[in-house]
Amino acid sequence: MNDISPTIAVHKPTPHESASRHVSGAAIYIDDMKQKEGLLHAWVICSTHAHAKLLNVDLSAVAGAPGVACVLTAADIPGMNDAGPILPGEPLLAEREVTTIGEPIAVVAAATLAQARDAAGLARITYEDLPAILSIEDAVAAESYVVAPMLLKRGDVDTAMAAAPLRLNGEAQAGGQDHFYLETQIAQAEPGEDGAMHVFSSTQHPTEVQHIVARLLGRPLAALTVEVRRMGGGFGGKESHASLIAGMAALCANKTGRPVKLRLVRDADMVITGKRHDVNAKFEVGYDADGHILAMDMEIALRCGNVADLSGPVLTRALCHADNAYWLPHVRVRGLAAKTNTVSNTAFRGFGGPQGVFAIEAVITHLAAALGKSADEIRRVNYYAPGRDITPYGQHIGADNLPRVLAELETEIAGRREAVAAFNASSRLLKKGFAVMPVKFGISFNLPTLNQAGALVHVYTDGSVHLNHGGTEMGQGLYVKIAQVVAEGFSIDLEHVHVSATRTDKVPNTSATAASSGTDINGMAALAAVSTIKGRMAEVAAARLESVPEEIVFARNRVYAGNRSISFPELALACWADRVSLSATGFYKTPEIHFDQASMTGHPFYYFAHGACGVEAVIDTLTGEARILSANLIQDCGTSLNPAVDIGQVEGAFVQGMGWVMMEELVWDGQGNLKTHAPSTYKIPTARDVPPVFVTKLLENAPNAKPTIFRSKAVGEPPFMLAIGCFLAVQEAVAAAAGWERALTLRAPATPEAVLRALRG
Ligand code: MTE
Ligand code: MOS
Repeated sequence: MNDISPTIAVHKPTPHESASRHVSGAAIYIDDMKQKEGLLHAWVICSTHAHAKLLNVDLSAVAGAPGVACVLTAADIPGMNDAGPILPGEPLLAEREVTTIGEPIAVVAAATLAQARDAAGLARITYEDLPAILSIEDAVAAESYVVAPMLLKRGDVDTAMAAAPLRLNGEAQAGGQDHFYLETQIAQAEPGEDGAMHVFSSTQHPTEVQHIVARLLGRPLAALTVEVRRMGGGFGGKESHASLIAGMAALCANKTGRPVKLRLVRDADMVITGKRHDVNAKFEVGYDADGHILAMDMEIALRCGNVADLSGPVLTRALCHADNAYWLPHVRVRGLAAKTNTVSNTAFRGFGGPQGVFAIEAVITHLAAALGKSADEIRRVNYYAPGRDITPYGQHIGADNLPRVLAELETEIAGRREAVAAFNASSRLLKKGFAVMPVKFGISFNLPTLNQAGALVHVYTDGSVHLNHGGTEMGQGLYVKIAQVVAEGFSIDLEHVHVSATRTDKVPNTSATAASSGTDINGMAALAAVSTIKGRMAEVAAARLESVPEEIVFARNRVYAGNRSISFPELALACWADRVSLSATGFYKTPEIHFDQASMTGHPFYYFAHGACGVEAVIDTLTGEARILSANLIQDCGTSLNPAVDIGQVEGAFVQGMGWVMMEELVWDGQGNLKTHAPSTYKIPTARDVPPVFVTKLLENAPNAKPTIFRSKAVGEPPFMLAIGCFLAVQEAVAAAAGWERALTLRAPATPEAVLRALRG
């Protein structure tokens, strides 16, 4: 059917479907739902030791406390005590041993939240401490890993290294990051008839919540329904860790027969749930006098915490992004998944990509410093180019929009480098730095199976449309984008498409909304459902309009056969009258992709998203304080489905990335206690930190070379890595003040302390 008018709904800057409800407070999150009769509130009793045997867990005082309906330990789990999303052996509630502070040992449910919290304080737990591994270094020294080391390689690194005219060694480190979603983790479980349960979960992955609750309760999947209308942010933190919260709520609901809500308060959320993996990278590079990378040998070690969770795939993506935008003829990247007695780190926007990109950008910086050239010159000679366009894992780069992005950026930032140099020549205490940061990010889940989606579309007899799909809404604008796709498909105004909560009983067996591919895959699934319904409607229209289905055109709320037409609602009613189904499911699987995890080769990404930015930073050499003065961003969103939402995603991702590399610092003490578990001690960027000059543009006239949904490109994660440019600009400023030898010691986040340490040595 070649009847899609390209302009009724897609490619328009339509507001987020909940925008006015978000700002007026009318959007209903799980904690805002009308309180159910008999609702219990839960609280988690956690380990206070990093690694210890549980000698005795005495919960008698908890059980007898006012208002308490139940307190459950591992022994009370009717099914399997395992919440591992990929690998088995990740208990929900600790049994004989605890392996991190914050590990749940028991969960208590009481009539009020205060009663649950007070009761939890009465638990008497005795521990026998065991040796704890807290740092990446100690884990690597002990060969303590959550998954086996990985090796990504191409060519003959040793020979190329030995033959290279120049060689250098270096390292790079970046800290972790808390997701700091505005809505903390929450679930409400409501027992139904006959062993059924309905779970409201703030999750990016309703199907996984369904699986893990089923496993814990020993119930069939069909007995469980998981629903999520919206999250107050997820950022990867609600991909696998939401099932821990839902699992504990479900256990209490199952035990008591009453609805149970578990909402973590901020401090508990920060201690109990995982974060971005902090990274240590070490490298040796063989290069020539022009700065060409001839051989690269790198080791990337991530702090994974006490269990594997998603760390295997996160590490895989880190390795698959250790090239960023550069051609590496001979390369070996070893990946180490350090197992430590700290909270299990998990998905976070970029999913390992940022760590890999951070590492190779450090290589670029080291080469520039060693050769006395600008980082831009080093980048220029190393970018992927025709004939030098195969990634280390063997995928051809395909359509490469980075040269266009960079060319446009150069006109945006013309004169900035010179202005910064002039400023530095005359300023003693304040020093500026300027950096350009390119990003290439692979779109698709590395594991091919996950690249599938489903949708369910109903047309009612008044022509209004009900839309459901497997993707979840966490603020990123997925719901409005898919509604735009459906409106476009039927060629009706967007207001006729009603989005509904994501539910496992409407669209089953879904993937997480993650890897930035929510729109790509759910949009295609929704469009497939629309096509099915339109095919049936076209037959009815043809009969009514005395034409043939092939001649029927859906356009602007009407359906045409030549000059004759009827309105879309009239046709919907006519279909019903003719006993034609107006409901269909749609399904999509991403084509072309494959990946062999053992050899780390294949074609894991359907396409790449490109972006670049220019960032100007200033540091105060007396206090170490750094500020970003300007940022010019250009992101390739293909033909954007919704430029307003996409620009919001680019801006938001950049500011969140700024937080990672500039200010958000997780501090643990020597016993493994997280000391920064509230906004009082953990500094996230706020409106004041947004650069005063902040210009975001989408690459124009850049339809995706692949036939993605209306030729758009994914946007959720790629621009996060642009913010690494903030770190690089600060590093340039440190170099301007104290020389490159000092500047290369800078660690992320570039807090005032870190900048001072780098300046003073
Ligand atoms: N934007 C908002 N506002 N809130 C979020 O939680 N999560 C990010 C990104 N943008 C997030 C967000 C992450 S980690 C991913 S993977 C994508 O959105 C997921 O949504 P998408 O696949 O629909 O882009
Ligand atoms: Mo995003 S880290 O893939 O949820």
